[in-house]
Amino acid sequence: MLNILIIGAGVVGQATGKGLAKKGYKIGYVDIEPEKLAFLSKQGALAMRADQVNWQMWDIIMVAVPTPTIDGHITLAPLTSVMTTIGAGLAMISKFAVVVVRSTVPPTTTDQQLRPILEEFSGKQAGIDFGIAVNPEFLRQRSSEQDFDRPWITVLGVSDRLTGEILADIYTPFGGLTIQCTPTEAEMIKYVNNIYNALKISYFNEVHAICEKLEIDSNVVSAVVARSA
Ligand SMILES: NC(=O)c1ccc[n+]([C@@H]2O[C@H](COP(=O)([O-])OP(=O)(O)OC[C@H]3O[C@@H](n4cnc5c(N)ncnc54)[C@H](O)[C@@H]3O)[C@@H](O)[C@H]2O)c1
Repeated sequence: MLNILIIGAGVVGQATGKGLAKKGYKIGYVDIEPEKLAFLSKQGALAMRADQVNWQMWDIIMVAVPTPTIDGHITLAPLTSVMTTIGAGLAMISKFAVVVVRSTVPPTTTDQQLRPILEEFSGKQAGIDFGIAVNPEFLRQRSSEQDFDRPWITVLGVSDRLTGEILADIYTPFGGLTIQCTPTEAEMIKYVNNIYNALKISYFNEVHAICEKLEIDSNVVSAVVARSA
């Protein structure tokens, strides 16, 4: 069984860790919030700061740190900072580890910004010495753990064949459709999906407003039309 380190123990990180732990993987969490580490430790989980990680121990490193949009611009600072730490960690190990980006990032971020950091700080080459993947999360915050356990889709944007095989082995038991593609395609799929969801909400809000004016029950209309989407 592989050992999986999760960096960023928030909604996505914890749902991922709990879901994978149920399948028998050894899980470790890294976070910058001492309260979160204390909470996880109290629950019996292995939780630590980045400077406490024994990199040799971990086969897969999943990153689920925040990528907030501030004044219309996405903030990648937490993610790039974590990549420098992981890169330095990869420099210390001899095995083929896989770095998985779970955070939502704009298309091309991993190939053009994160991969160069990992390669610079590790002195190694992605796709040959270590794997890199974009595995976006489609869970809903209110039902994060159940959604992780029963995904409707798993998208694996991978740097190389071995990374694709390792991640497919991990996710296949969860069921649902699995798509293998490039890291940039995976990033684009997640962005387009988010925007499509926002568009559907706006669309049905408009439908509701028109129905109200015509004294039509909008639920009857939406319930039918939504099935065709
Ligand atoms: N919440 C959702 O429903 C959801 C769904 C899909 C995708 N996402 C994406 O997943 C990513 C994480 O979202 P979330 O909702 O889990 O965020 P969150 O705020 O719940 O958790 C993020 C965690 O990362 C930690 N963190 C921040 N900087 C760090 C660092 N440098 N090193 C280690 N830990 C650090 C924070 O302390 C926090 O515990 C984001 O990119 C988000 O867009 C979220």
